[in-house]
Parts: sequence; structure tokens; C-alpha cells
Amino acid sequence: MTEENHQKNIKSSEILGRILFPGREIQKRVRELGNKITHDYYGKELILVCILRGAVVFLTDLIKHIDLPLSIDFMSISSYGFNETDSGLVKITKDLDENIEGKNVLIVEDIIDTGLTLSYMIRNLQLRNPASIEICTLIDREVRRIASLKIKYSAFKLEEKYVVGYGLDYKQKYRNLESIYELKTDTVKKDIESLKSSLNK
Ligand code: IMP
Ligand code: MG
Repeated sequence: MTEENHQKNIKSSEILGRILFPGREIQKRVRELGNKITHDYYGKELILVCILRGAVVFLTDLIKHIDLPLSIDFMSISSYGFNETDSGLVKITKDLDENIEGKNVLIVEDIIDTGLTLSYMIRNLQLRNPASIEICTLIDREVRRIASLKIKYSAFKLEEKYVVGYGLDYKQKYRNLESIYELKTDTVKKDIESLKSSLNK
């Protein structure tokens, strides 16, 4: 047996807890959101702005259910991580390729937590004079919200839990899971505590 064969499959990980949102339920909600967006933006010029990297899986499923001519673009923003000590600073690490002036922008995000990342981004995009800016998030975790945001579309609400799968990562892994899982908090307790306290500094 080669070295690689010893590696465990992702689902046998010590880190994954129970499934919170099964793949089938996610697909159903994504389809519903796509239909609603199709209805709301009928006759308008729509550009979906996906926030890298977590929202990629959601975006690729969502656009298949939007029956309108649309374009997609990507933006990357550095926010808090496990190695950073302060989360007050947000910066754009990859900007859009398209001009959004006069267009209807729909921001596609994986999860909105404090809202700091998105509120920074919206202020930045607003300076480019789009016709409108709205938010579509897979998960809305409102309990720790700091910056108030108007979220037009959200697939799921979540309490204070850290989740992975369907694009969401823990230390850059688990994005390829079909369902969304809770992390086993005892295993990753230290990381989660440091993530939380980084926001209270
Ligand atoms: P915030 O809204 O600025 O606090 O940050 C939200 C970002 O933090 C998201 O775009 C995710 O990248 C990341 N994030 C927050 N909570 C989770 C989680 O439970 N799982 C994976 N990533 C998360
Ligand atoms: Mg993100």
C-alpha cells in the first residue's frame, strides 16, 4: 500500500460533527432562491459578484437556476483567519474584472457572521455607481452581527456554530462536501475560541 492510500477519507474525519443542512435540502433552497432572483431581476442587467473562495460552490449551483442573461465576477477579500490577531482590517486581495457602473450587482456570499467583510465591500462597490447592490448568502448567522446589513436573499439561518462543507472551509479543507456539517467543537475548541476572541479585541 502506498503512503497516500493510508490517508483517511474526508468523512471519517475526527473533526466533522453532525449534518446540519443535507445536500438535498441545500439544492432545494438554492433552486428556490434562483427562481426568486429570476423573478425579481426580470428585464434587468444582472451581475453576480462571488466572494472567493467559500461562495464558489454556491454560485455555480445558483446560476443554473437563474433564467436570465447574467454575468459573473469574483472578488477576494482578506478577513479574519486563524492566524490573525486582529480582524478590524479588511482589504481587497483580488478585485473585479468587470465594470459594474449602471449594473445590478448581486453579491454572493457563503456565510455572513459579523458582517464586517460585506459592509466594507458594499461601501467599496457603491463608489463605482452600480444601479443597485443586494446580498445573497447561503447562511445568515445573525447572533454575532456587528455591522448591520440588509440581506435580500438567504438560504439558511444558523445559530452560534462553526460549519464546513458546500464551499465552507476549516483551515482550507472540507469545501468539497455535499452537505454542511457542524465542526466537533471539542476537537477544534482552541481554534474556535481564538476566532471568537479575535473579534472582541
Ligand atoms: P464576517 O461576516 O466578516 O464576520 O465574516 C464572514 C466570513 O468568515 C465568511 O465569508 C467566511 O469566509 C468566514 N466564516 C465565518 N463563519 C464561518 C463558518 O462557520 N465556516 C466557515 N467559514 C466561516
Ligand atoms: Mg468568505
